[in-house]
Amino acid sequence: MTKKSPAHELLTNLENFLAEENFGESPKELYQPIRYILSLGGKRIRPLLALLSYGLYQDDPEKILGPAAAIEVFHNFTLMHDDIMDEAPLRRGKATVHEKWNPNVAILSGDVMLVRAYDLLLKSDHQYLPEIIRLFNQTAAEVCEGQQLDMNFESLTVVEESEYINMIRLKTAVLLGHALQLGAILAGAPSRDSQLLYEFGVNIGIGFQLKDDLLDVFADQAKFGKQVGGDIISNKKTFLLIKALEAAKGQDLMELNTWLSLKEFDKTQKVNAVTALYEKLGIRKLTEEKMNFYFSKGFDQLESISFKNPDYHETLLSITQDLVHREK
Ligand code: IPE
Ligand code: IPE
Ligand code: MG
Ligand code: MG
Ligand code: MG
Repeated sequence: MTKKSPAHELLTNLENFLAEENFGESPKELYQPIRYILSLGGKRIRPLLALLSYGLYQDDPEKILGPAAAIEVFHNFTLMHDDIMDEAPLRRGKATVHEKWNPNVAILSGDVMLVRAYDLLLKSDHQYLPEIIRLFNQTAAEVCEGQQLDMNFESLTVVEESEYINMIRLKTAVLLGHALQLGAILAGAPSRDSQLLYEFGVNIGIGFQLKDDLLDVFADQAKFGKQVGGDIISNKKTFLLIKALEAAKGQDLMELNTWLSLKEFDKTQKVNAVTALYEKLGIRKLTEEKMNFYFSKGFDQLESISFKNPDYHETLLSITQDLVHREK
């Protein structure tokens, strides 16, 4: 990152904003999990994208901390519910909400987070509200569509690459696109730019989820903060599994299918065996190539937008480039 990078200050302001936000007090089982999940950190990439996108055109990004925070609160709501669906024990290095409390707490607390996200969106310049709410709602519904496809795919034997890409576009990528689009709209950017920024976000978002799938298998547990191997345990049709099923022959294919069909198994054994097959079949490289393809496509789009503040453009490029190499 360049020495002039505005990202650091924006993130500090965002953190302070979130820390001061009153989500509610009582009953404590409803509101404590919100504080809990938000205090576990996270990269804050989505609000940062919104703030940087706004900063391409306007000099006062702190003006949109409310709507930027709305995107982060919405994201954390989806994580709380996602962790129930994925039976995940760990989030950001700590126990997930449904493990620390129970699934009902995670459901309700997540529900009220979605409502609080709307409260934060209302802090937007009112002239843009109808458009923003419409786009936010479309995005939120698409995230649910993606999550449902993700769950449906767990029990399918064959998922095509194109179906997988569409699923991750919905569950993950559109929210990154929306964050960028939101910042641009609130800054009064030309609609061509807000559209290009959206598409940039969707492409890097697809790359982002491919990287997430890679990390789920190959991350260093100490740095990752989530359970390494969770996707393998639950037969997630990640890009890695789809490609392994396409590439495996003979004994390897039999072994892979056996692990996928076993109802009872030792988790560590399954994770180690499937990871070894991925390595043997060259799946890591294939996934990295696909990830790089989507990131490059996004970076090309970022080049073609107009902007006023070049330091914001540079920062947007550098923080999104860093996502390719992230370890958590
Ligand atoms: C995790 O998102 C969920 C995905 C869409 C892959 P992040 O990787 O942005 O998680 P945090 O917010 O940084 O913890
Ligand atoms: C989750 O995808 C996407 C959303 C939360 C909408 P994952 O299930 O892969 O995310 P992680 O790995 O649990 O963060
Ligand atoms: Mg999931
Ligand atoms: Mg998950
Ligand atoms: Mg994941």
